[in-house]
Amino acid sequence: MSEDHVHRVQPAWKKNALIDNDTYLKWYTDSVKNPDKFWGKHGKRIDWFKPYSKVKNTAFDGKVSIKWFEDGETNVSWNCIDRHLKKRGDQTAIIWEGDNPYDDRKITYNELYAHVCRLANVMKKHGVKKGDRVTIYMPMIPETAYAMLACTRIGAIHSVVFGGFSPDALAGRIDDCKSTFVITADEGLRGGKPIPLKDNTDKAIEIAANAGTKVEKVVVVRRTGGKTGWVAGRDVWYHDEVATVKAECKPEKMKAEDPLFILYTSGSTGKPKGVLHTTAGYLVYVSMTHQYVFDYHDGDIYWCTADVGWVTGHSYIVYGPLANGATTLMFEGVPNYPSQSRFWEVIDKHKVNIFYTAPTALRALMGAGDSHVTKTSRKSLRVLGTVGEPINPEAWEWYFNVVGNGKVPIVDTWWQTETGGILITPLPGATDLKAGSATRPFFGVKPQLVDGDGKVLEGVASGSLCITDSWPGQMRTVYGDHERFVQTYFSTYKGKYFTGDGCRRDADGYYWITGRVDDVINVSGHRMGTAEVESALVSHEKVSEAAVVGYPHDIKGQGIYCYVTLMAGEKPDEELRKELVAHVRKDIGAIATPDKIQFAPGLPKTRSGKIMRRILRKIAEDDFAALGDTSTLADPAVVDDLVANRQNKR
Ligand code: WTA
Repeated sequence: MSEDHVHRVQPAWKKNALIDNDTYLKWYTDSVKNPDKFWGKHGKRIDWFKPYSKVKNTAFDGKVSIKWFEDGETNVSWNCIDRHLKKRGDQTAIIWEGDNPYDDRKITYNELYAHVCRLANVMKKHGVKKGDRVTIYMPMIPETAYAMLACTRIGAIHSVVFGGFSPDALAGRIDDCKSTFVITADEGLRGGKPIPLKDNTDKAIEIAANAGTKVEKVVVVRRTGGKTGWVAGRDVWYHDEVATVKAECKPEKMKAEDPLFILYTSGSTGKPKGVLHTTAGYLVYVSMTHQYVFDYHDGDIYWCTADVGWVTGHSYIVYGPLANGATTLMFEGVPNYPSQSRFWEVIDKHKVNIFYTAPTALRALMGAGDSHVTKTSRKSLRVLGTVGEPINPEAWEWYFNVVGNGKVPIVDTWWQTETGGILITPLPGATDLKAGSATRPFFGVKPQLVDGDGKVLEGVASGSLCITDSWPGQMRTVYGDHERFVQTYFSTYKGKYFTGDGCRRDADGYYWITGRVDDVINVSGHRMGTAEVESALVSHEKVSEAAVVGYPHDIKGQGIYCYVTLMAGEKPDEELRKELVAHVRKDIGAIATPDKIQFAPGLPKTRSGKIMRRILRKIAEDDFAALGDTSTLADPAVVDDLVANRQNKR
């Protein structure tokens, strides 16, 4: 192996592993040589009401059409619950660990069945039908999983909106998919602090109504008992409603390509896109990756620390694990509350075997000192995982040596909201590891590196990461805007899915994701379109123009750096800086909080008026010695001012 930080597969990892290296190589070759045969076989890992006869029917060119198992019929909640009841009805499906360490619950598969059926019946009673969109704006509590599964049971399409988003952001998502049914909670609870979900929902409903979408029903889960507003006739309590309906509800027979859920995600332009995933291919793919990537064995306790508001929560807290009959842990809190040991204490408390988290959390915990980790046992751990952003080798080695005591494999899993499930990843019993590399493609995944002109790069190379053929978990369209789907993902490089990520391939064929090559930044593992932050800034009355870029941040991976030009006559001062920060938080949510705001009398533009972001990125990185050619600028002098007033002086 050609790089530093190589960690070979240890005998203990191989011993009971589902996949060893020979199997990986054989299956991978089979999967890309004959995808129909490979997926035709693995599609049977889920149950079908009507078996499929066609497997793959996909085209990445022309209008772009992606269909898997298209003539089959199945149901997601039926696969995640009903089929397990005979064998594991009394097994825990969900371990819930509350924000407060004394607050926890276990829900068996039998109980899950009853909860989901009841909520499905409540939805039906209020007129929700197959194909309707249901918005879920919830904290990390079991009812959130019930809500998702209840939607899938009756064929409604859920749109889960992360609880950290503002009323404006929630309203935009309600309106985009014309969702008239909302499920929320009175308040969320994180790190001891309440989050006013119902109040935010009330505000969002008003904004959405002005935009033309009238929400008819709001189901409210009582989480904290905090005081909230109430609109009679529109708002109903979850606990009242579920008490009046039956605990049985027949699962709707869904076609393989019927929509399953919409999840909004940031891109390089415009407002967030509604990524649409469909029923069968998604479930096959997330259950298969959950099993093999985490080397999941029956009886394992599995914990993914993501929020269900993001795709990682959808695929690897709810759907993948439950499809496999796993015990999945759902954590309401944060890594550093009540102490910096919380993650490791929860691992010991519930004897967690598989732990999946984000590099940003690891970096923060690493900074807090090893003693918070070493005072816990972590003996139950067998597999560790990371997701969401590149992991720096230092954080990787710390995770490996301190958290895993040098004995537990790390799977660095690369994927996206759009991909539905993990595409590039080690397999614990098969793949020699390199700290910082997502290593090799999963079965059926064909990565390719291309240069700026679209030329395919072979061997050792760096370029834009594309995927040249479809896999079952792939998104099918942008909800309500197929043209945008084609434009965004298949037009940069004709006939290929363009990921937006830069990537290097080394001499061993390992992939190293280097980060986004478009105007998306990754803040603490959360995707943020710079265009969204810019549009929030310019919506402030004192702002005339704004440009936003990312810069390297020790904990968050990337920080948000904003250049702001004010309207004539406005005075740049601390007061206004605070006001702008608050304004962006209100518009999008706390995850978009600007780290740096630089007031700039002018932005560097080409003579045709295009903002030269390359220069802005360099200045934000305090790397202005390498500004490159600025002679094409309309007014080269603006750069001197930007450099002199930069906010990141080293
Ligand atoms: C980044 C999260 C490096 C990448 C599942 C991608 C990663 C974006 C990794 C998707 C990883 C995700 N190594 N970068 N292991 N995993 N990313 O849609 O830039 O929230 O394009 O999906 O996160 O973010 P999203």
